[in-house]
Amino acid sequence: MRSEERLRMLGILKNGFANGGPIHGDGVVRSPLADFTCRRLAADEKRVFFRETPLLMGLSSDLPAPGTYWADSETGLPILMTRDGDGEFHAFANTCRHRGAQVVPDGRGVGERFACPFHAWTYNGRGNLVAVYRESRFGAVDKNALGLIELPAAERHGMLWVRPTPGAAIDVDAALGGLSDDMRHWKLPQHSYAASQVLRANVNWKLAIDTFGENYHFDVLHRESLAQEIRGNLQTHDVFGLNYRMVFAQARRFEEFDKAFTELREWPFRLATLSVYFIFPNTIFLVDPYAVDVLRMFPDGDDPSRSRTAHSFYAPPEVKAFYEESEHEYAERFVGFNHVILNEDYAIAESTQRSANAGIQSHVLFGRNEPALLHYHNAHRRGLGRPLLAPEEA
Ligand code: FES
Ligand SMILES: [Fe+2]
Repeated sequence: MRSEERLRMLGILKNGFANGGPIHGDGVVRSPLADFTCRRLAADEKRVFFRETPLLMGLSSDLPAPGTYWADSETGLPILMTRDGDGEFHAFANTCRHRGAQVVPDGRGVGERFACPFHAWTYNGRGNLVAVYRESRFGAVDKNALGLIELPAAERHGMLWVRPTPGAAIDVDAALGGLSDDMRHWKLPQHSYAASQVLRANVNWKLAIDTFGENYHFDVLHRESLAQEIRGNLQTHDVFGLNYRMVFAQARRFEEFDKAFTELREWPFRLATLSVYFIFPNTIFLVDPYAVDVLRMFPDGDDPSRSRTAHSFYAPPEVKAFYEESEHEYAERFVGFNHVILNEDYAIAESTQRSANAGIQSHVLFGRNEPALLHYHNAHRRGLGRPLLAPEEA
């Protein structure tokens, strides 16, 4: 993110404190609630978005050193990610070539040899089958042809990307659609993995993403929580291909910096803002002064009204030092985070899902001040070749 770009956004937000901020959308949009309940749509989404599309999995520090691994089954396909002895990132289908069992249990750790729990066939961090238990009794097999099935994987700008179907390599810069500058700016390789959690909710996975789609609700739903820090009804709006960025203002910092600096270009951008990115198809990526949060939303089984949010956060160096020098545990941060996300956002979203399930109203409305919602829904529609939503004629 170039400095002129940061300056432009700070200018929009600062003026917005005085005049209420810009309105970005062209009109009110009707969006069908069936998008949260349709089983046929859910099946198409699973195939296209969670198997065929490159997915952001996490940051480089999920695999902090050569010889580390991370097994994750959230996409529906068990995936084993490794960093080999040379530091290179790989991804494999985490399924044994003998009888298909999951080789490495979900989780993360250190290890370069992975023995399947069923009959102990053993693979290394490059996916090679290195040992067949009691091979002489089993019968002859070509071990060279029976490595773990490799998946396209790419590491760039400190991000880990995987496509859960074998095939063509991933072009991360193309997938970022112009956000590469931003990602470089955040110095993601300097962020260390802190902690992760999985949140289950009775909401469609797209509705979980929608909870991060506007700050019109901050002064109402988050009156006592987030609105104490973030200015409601004020955001920037920028589209990057299928991805999206909106930046919010940290209210107290704006007041403080307004007094402390004569020039806007002197303001420390990260301290003054919360940047909310949507990274197609299923990730909300947050950057605030204390962390980078990666929230990956997934369908939970075949029921369109259930989802899982796989949430990891990563600490910049100065915050890591704070945690290491104090008695604090990284996981303590989830208490405040979940108070907002689970008790407020997802609780309200569950009520929307219930009305969608009940079929009492066919559509909901996205306002001109909720442009990210229109973007998210149309990005998913584009991904499936569905007709796009557009503002109503006034
Ligand atoms: S299924 Fe893995 S060793 Fe048999
Ligand atoms: Fe919210």
